[in-house]
Amino acid sequence: MGKKIVVITGSPRKNGNSFAMTDAFMKAAEEKGHTVKRFDAAMKNVGGCHACETCFKSGKACSFDDDFNTIAPAIMEADAVVFTMPVYWYSIPAQVKGVIDKLFSFCVAGKDIAGKECALITCCEEDDMSVMDGVRIPVERSAALLKWKMVGEVLVPGVLNTGDIEKTDGCKKAAALAEKF
Ligand SMILES: Cc1cc2nc3c(=O)[nH]c(=O)nc-3n(C[C@H](O)[C@H](O)[C@H](O)COP(=O)(O)O)c2cc1C
Repeated sequence: MGKKIVVITGSPRKNGNSFAMTDAFMKAAEEKGHTVKRFDAAMKNVGGCHACETCFKSGKACSFDDDFNTIAPAIMEADAVVFTMPVYWYSIPAQVKGVIDKLFSFCVAGKDIAGKECALITCCEEDDMSVMDGVRIPVERSAALLKWKMVGEVLVPGVLNTGDIEKTDGCKKAAALAEKF
């Protein structure tokens, strides 16, 4: 049966490498009958967590009203959440880190969001796979804490410029990731 998949991207480059993989994943997932909702964090306004712990008290996920409040309901009703992003300074780009930080709202408010599936698509310039640890490990550990099951990862090193992803099998692997749901 088709699943509800939320895709959260983190690159500001519309024609970039992670977006190309995102598109390949989404196309394959939709062809399989899944419903995919995409949020491009870098084109949205999502700030960091203020740790005020007033989450959901006014009905909205975050009291500091920003675009996370449109993403939160989609996450709550999703069967799966897929993060796609490049590596920035050995870490998660700020644009999508805001979304990840605000997942804390579900914990604070005691919302039951356990049992979802999760996956990661990421890439970086350097050739060393460990460069992606700064994205991979926080996503894996956050998923574990939320009781989400990691079903797959596409980790592509050696891509710098727009279009470099076409010289790799990244998009093929991103499309194959759709088989895991
Ligand atoms: C601000 C910034 C920081 C980056 N930091 C790293 C890094 O630490 N290691 C690395 O290998 N590549 C780094 N890169 C390169 C990107 O990860 C790489 O170009 C990637 O393919 C970009 O993906 P995109 O086209 O989806 O935006 C950085 C790029 C930018 C813009």
